[in-house]
Parts: sequence; structure tokens; C-alpha cells
Amino acid sequence: MASSSQPTSKVILITGCSSGIGFATADLLAQSGHTVYATARREESVAKLSDWSNSFSGRAIADRLDVTDPATIQNVVGRIKSEQNRIDCVVNNAGYGQAGPIEEVSLDAWRRQFETNVFGVAAVNQQILPMMRNQKFGRVINVSSVVAHLSLPMMGPYCASKHALDAMSVALRVELAPFGVDVVLIEPGPVETEFRPNVDENLESSAEQDGPYTRLAKAMDKYWNRSFGKTAAKPIAVARAIQKAVEAKRPKTRYRITAPAKFVPHLVSHLSDRLLDRIIHWQLRLK
Ligand SMILES: NC(=O)c1ccc[n+]([C@@H]2O[C@H](COP(=O)([O-])OP(=O)(O)OC[C@H]3O[C@@H](n4cnc5c(N)ncnc54)[C@H](OP(=O)(O)O)[C@@H]3O)[C@@H](O)[C@H]2O)c1
Repeated sequence: MASSSQPTSKVILITGCSSGIGFATADLLAQSGHTVYATARREESVAKLSDWSNSFSGRAIADRLDVTDPATIQNVVGRIKSEQNRIDCVVNNAGYGQAGPIEEVSLDAWRRQFETNVFGVAAVNQQILPMMRNQKFGRVINVSSVVAHLSLPMMGPYCASKHALDAMSVALRVELAPFGVDVVLIEPGPVETEFRPNVDENLESSAEQDGPYTRLAKAMDKYWNRSFGKTAAKPIAVARAIQKAVEAKRPKTRYRITAPAKFVPHLVSHLSDRLLDRIIHWQLRLK
């Protein structure tokens, strides 16, 4: 149902470009001839992006966008409207992982997690969709995760946020099909970015306490140390998948990057919940 008359050089907005997947994607897409609005929430990140953008002679534009701050979203979307008069793709990439046991993570931390990973995506999309519907083409690319399929202990808030993002994206896909707008989910497994050091910080603080979940937090910490390095992809691998989602005439609904991202959804659909629980216990080396 997506439109077939889309221009080959796209106008693309990307959130969360200060590091990791967002920056790799902005760089790859700008190098491939697209016009990229690479955004970040902190002024110092925007300044670095501005330096980077200089080599693209106007095709890469750095701007400030905090997905939890509606005024910054409005500014950037308004700018794209007046400078380009169209927007072909939005890559909702900004996000972070709130770790910790469900019982102990403060409700404020829960809310912050959803404000960024879920409501932030809804807020950006709400600003952009009227333009995409009117022009009768567009592509919404939401960066989800393998944990949208299988929740991990001590990562409950993050996993819940990606499950919510998945649900929102599936509903949106059907809602937007009549308007020629595609919705794509990007589902990476582990990727070497700033994501993990940030998660480690709140996981370590749970592991250090002498509390009811300390043993589980330590087991999870060790599991990540054992498994992350073995399977982690570089951000460019995710950027290449996003490029496919941007450029394909008819994109897939989901792009899965890394081996775990490919096999976990199959395990989940074929194994019972109890068996999956046992596999997680075994992986964490818990008796
Ligand atoms: N790395 C992984 O293993 C992995 C796996 C699956 C999915 N993902 C997903 O991939 C996406 C990108 O993460 P990454 O791995 O590239 O990690 P990253 O290097 O930490 O990048 C995350 C980006 O999101 C930005 N961000 C956070 N809150 C924001 C907000 N309120 N407004 C705007 N930007 C905000 C960060 O900005 P600051 O620099 O200002 O914090 C940073 O630019 C996330 O959605 C993450 O959930 C990552």
C-alpha cells in the first residue's frame, strides 16, 4: 500500500544521534546521498554534530531535539517543513535502558523510561504524521529491540518499554497503510554503544546493595559480561539495516540484527513460558 512514487534521495529525521546507532545511521545515510536531520538532546552533542555535518555540504543538518520536550520536536519538524516541504522518513532511535528489579525501581524512574522510549516516539510521530499523510508517503522506523519479544530479569522497565513500542508500532502500521505510510521495526540484539555502560550503572547499584535481589542482579551482570561481547554487533550493522528500511521499495515490517535477535522470537513462539523461564535461569547460572 506504500506509495511507489517516492523520491530516491530522502529527507530523514533521526533522534538520538549523539552516539551509537543514531550517529552511525546519520553518517551512513548522509554519505549515501540522503538529506539527514541529525538531532540530539544536549547542546554539546548538537555542537559536535554540527562539526560532523560540515563535510556534507548542506545535506546533514544538526539540531536539538529532546523527545521528552514537545517544543524541541515542534521546532525541528517546523524547520523541516519550511526547508524541505516534505519528510520521507523518521527514525525514532532515542532511548535508554532502565535496569533494576521491578519492586525497587522508583516510579519516577519507570515514568522517565516510558517518557523517552514510548511517549517520546508517540510525540515525534504525532508531529510528523500529518505531513506524511498529506503527502501520501512516508516511513516511520522505530528502533525497538529483541527484548520486545522476551523480557529479561533486572531489565523489566526497559523490556516493558520496548514491548509497548512494539504494540504501538503494529497498531500504527495498520492505521497508516491506507495513507501510503509504512511502519518498520528495527530489532537489534546486543550492540556496542553507550547503551550498555549506561545500563551497567543502574544494574551495578542494584548488585552492590545487600538486598533481596542482589544475587539476581550479580548473576545478570555476569551474564551480560559473558554474553554481550560474543554476540554484540557494531552500530554500523544496525545502520545498514535502517538504510535498507529507508531505501527498499517495499520494506520488511521488521529487521532483526544479530543472531539472538533472529532466534529469540522463534523460541518465544515455540516454547512454553515455564521452559523459557528455565532457559533464562540456566543462562544466568542460577540454581
Ligand atoms: N545497544 C544495544 O545493545 C541496543 C539493543 C537493542 C536496541 N537498542 C536501542 O537502540 C537505540 C539507540 O541506542 P544505542 O544503543 O545507540 O545507545 P546510545 O549510544 O546510548 O544512544 C542512545 C541515544 O539516545 C539519546 N537519548 C536518550 N534520551 C533522549 C531523549 N530524551 N531525547 C533525545 N535523545 C535521547 C542519547 O542521548 P544522550 O547522549 O544525550 O544520552 C543517545 O544519543 C535505543 O532506542 C536502544 O533502546 C540498543
